[in-house]
Amino acid sequence: MSKIKKIKSRQVFDSRGNPTIEAEIFSDNDKSALAIVPSGASTGSHEAYELRDKNNNEYLGKSVFKAVENIKGPISNALININVSDQLKIDEKLINLDGTEQKKKLGANAILAVSIASCKLAAIEANVSLFKYLSKSKVFFIPVPLLNIINGGLHAKNKLEIQEFMIRPENTTSFSESLRQSYLVIKNLRSMLEDTNVGDEGGFAPNLETNQQAIEIILKAIEKSGFKPGEDISICLDVAANELKKPISVENYLELIKKYPIKSIEDPFKEDDWISWKKLSTNAQIQIVGDDLFATNKIRLKKGIEEKSANAILIKPNQIGTVSETLEVIDLAHKNGFKTIISHRSGDSEDTFIADLAVATNSSQIKSGSLARSERVAKYNRLLRIEEELGNSAKMAKI
Ligand code: PGA
Ligand code: ZN
Repeated sequence: MSKIKKIKSRQVFDSRGNPTIEAEIFSDNDKSALAIVPSGASTGSHEAYELRDKNNNEYLGKSVFKAVENIKGPISNALININVSDQLKIDEKLINLDGTEQKKKLGANAILAVSIASCKLAAIEANVSLFKYLSKSKVFFIPVPLLNIINGGLHAKNKLEIQEFMIRPENTTSFSESLRQSYLVIKNLRSMLEDTNVGDEGGFAPNLETNQQAIEIILKAIEKSGFKPGEDISICLDVAANELKKPISVENYLELIKKYPIKSIEDPFKEDDWISWKKLSTNAQIQIVGDDLFATNKIRLKKGIEEKSANAILIKPNQIGTVSETLEVIDLAHKNGFKTIISHRSGDSEDTFIADLAVATNSSQIKSGSLARSERVAKYNRLLRIEEELGNSAKMAKI
């Protein structure tokens, strides 16, 4: 069994041009793996802590040099000579070394970079694809993509209050066909817009006045592409309600669902408004997704399961900080009939870990933005390669 020989770390940049952290781990077998941690804009208060050098003006308080030093110093010291494939032990050491609830001492960004890089290194050492290495099963499903094709909220400089207007292909038998259908809708939408600038997640960021206008133009693009809205392709929203100036009521949501072919709503309410979550989730017959509500945290998910606050959870590894804890939350969700949606962050990178994670965990869906900006497309391209690797056995996940 190969062991961790050396851990390097450096500051690199994310897709918004902000500093972020990269870890590079070497085995005594002379193999190595890299991981870059993404960063959110609409972050919830229950997320693990992202350590930045707030008092250093060189990078406007956004550099991650302290986190880099934490990897080079205490984290390296704790992990040298540990078995590369002992992910649980690696993550346990990281968690204990930090010792705080939200990973404030070392920074969840430092911890996660190392956790993911060691996981990738273990797959390389085992000479198997990352998704196979991470999986307990021999049967694999490709996640259905939710493509964020109109960006609003904190991800764009327009007036749209809802953060993400997504499309989801409903009935395709392959991932490549899901992307083909989405591609047509995106191209038709582009032809209908005057302003084709894109937002942080690669979706268009047009100067539309209302949420309804955004939904209606997407419906037109779906029809123009020859698909039936709701049957072939549905609309999914991420409201990111923590950031809303004026809350949307349960009744408003129920009207919206009645009027439009919306099949999924993420973060319809603020992260601690458990009462409204329960009310909507028990009255709406669609997917209700907790992102900031759960923050990929098993304690918050347990509460949500008991209270029936939602029926799906968004999974962002950097909300919790290690691969093992991420897997544990996914397991808990599945055991309780919750769907899992693996997600990028609005500040992301060329790292495609989440694509493998989605397949490995039999997650039914993945969110990685639109078909624009290479950091978004990289995850979809990775899934195309996985689909090819699986050949005839590749099946789409059930939604
Ligand atoms: P964030 O947005 O990465 O800016 O938090 C993504 C989301 O809310 O799903
Ligand atoms: Zn969200």
